Amino acid sequence: MKTETTTSFETKFEEEVYEGLTASPKFLSSKYFYDKIGDKLFQDIMALPEYYLTNCELEVISNHTAAIAEIFKGRDGFDLIELGAGDGKKTKVLLKYLDEHQYNFNFLPIDISQNVLDQLKSSLREELPNVNVYPQQGTYFEVLERLSEYNERKKVIMVLGSNIGNLLHPQAIHFLKDIQRSMVEGDLLFMGFDQKKNPQTILDAYNDKTGVTAAFNKNILTRINNELDADFNLDDFLHWEVYDPETGTAKSFLVSKKTQKVSIKKLELEVNFQEWETIHTEISQKYNDEIVNWLAEESGLKIDGQFTDSKNYYKNYIFTKS
Ligand code: AVJ
Repeated sequence: MKTETTTSFETKFEEEVYEGLTASPKFLSSKYFYDKIGDKLFQDIMALPEYYLTNCELEVISNHTAAIAEIFKGRDGFDLIELGAGDGKKTKVLLKYLDEHQYNFNFLPIDISQNVLDQLKSSLREELPNVNVYPQQGTYFEVLERLSEYNERKKVIMVLGSNIGNLLHPQAIHFLKDIQRSMVEGDLLFMGFDQKKNPQTILDAYNDKTGVTAAFNKNILTRINNELDADFNLDDFLHWEVYDPETGTAKSFLVSKKTQKVSIKKLELEVNFQEWETIHTEISQKYNDEIVNWLAEESGLKIDGQFTDSKNYYKNYIFTKS
C-alpha cells in the first residue's frame, strides 16, 4: 500500500488521480477533460442544440458589439486579455468589429493548451490579419501573475463561456481575487455567467440525446487509460447528470454499473468499485444577479454593467475594481 508520505508523483495529473480515486466518495477534476480528444468533444458539445450556452453568449456579443467595444475602449487603446480562449468563435465577432472600426488594441489569448492557441493564432492570421495577436500559454495563475506588470495602458480581461461555473464558490472567489489583484484602476473584467433557468433546460444541456456529453465525461477515463496505463472499460460506466435548482449546481458523475476492479499501473494502484459507486467529475454552476453580486463583493470587484440574451438564459457582466 502506498501512503502519502512515500508516494511521489511525476505530474499533478498523477497526484490528483491518485487522490481522487482513493477518496470516498471518489472524484476527478474536470480540468483533465481537455486533451486533444477532449478539446474536440467540447467543440462538438458547443454545436449541440441542447447546449444553449454558446449560442446565447454569441447572441449577447453579436447584439451588443458596439456598446461592448465602447466600454472596452481606452484613452491610449487597450489590451484585450482572454483567459481560456478556446476556438475563439465568440471572440472573433468582437475582434472583427474592433478591427473594422479601427480600435487600437492588442489581443492576448491565454490557454493551457498550446494546441488550441496555435489553431487560434493561425485562424486569426487568415481571417483578421490586421489584429495583433500575442498568445500566452500557461495556467490562469501563472499568466495573471505575469500580467500584473502589464500596465502600460487599459487592460480588459475577458472570460467567456461561463468557465467560472466549474468552480465552487470559494474557488471562484479565489479566482476572481487573483484577477482583481492583476487589475489597476480603469481596468475591466468582462465575464460570462450562465443563469438559473428551467431546470429541465439545464439538465438537457448536460445530458444530450446523442451522448456527446457522456463521451466527453468518459474521456477522463480514456486519458487515465492512455497516460497512466489503466484498464477502465468505458462501457462499464454510466454518465449521470443532476441539477439542484436550489443551489444552481449541475453535477456530473460517472457511475460504475457493476462491482469491478480497475488497475492503474503507472500509479501502482488497484481501484475497487462497488456496484453503482460514483466518481464525481464536474460542477457547472448557474447564477443570478444576487450570487454574481455577492461573488464580486467578496473579491473586491463591483458590477458596472451587464448584457443578456433575449431569453435571459445567459449574462455577460462588466466588473471594475471596487
Ligand atoms: C466549458 C466549463 C463552461 O460546464 O458548461 C460542457 C463544460 N461540461 N458540457 C460547462 C461542459 C459538460 C462547460 N464549461
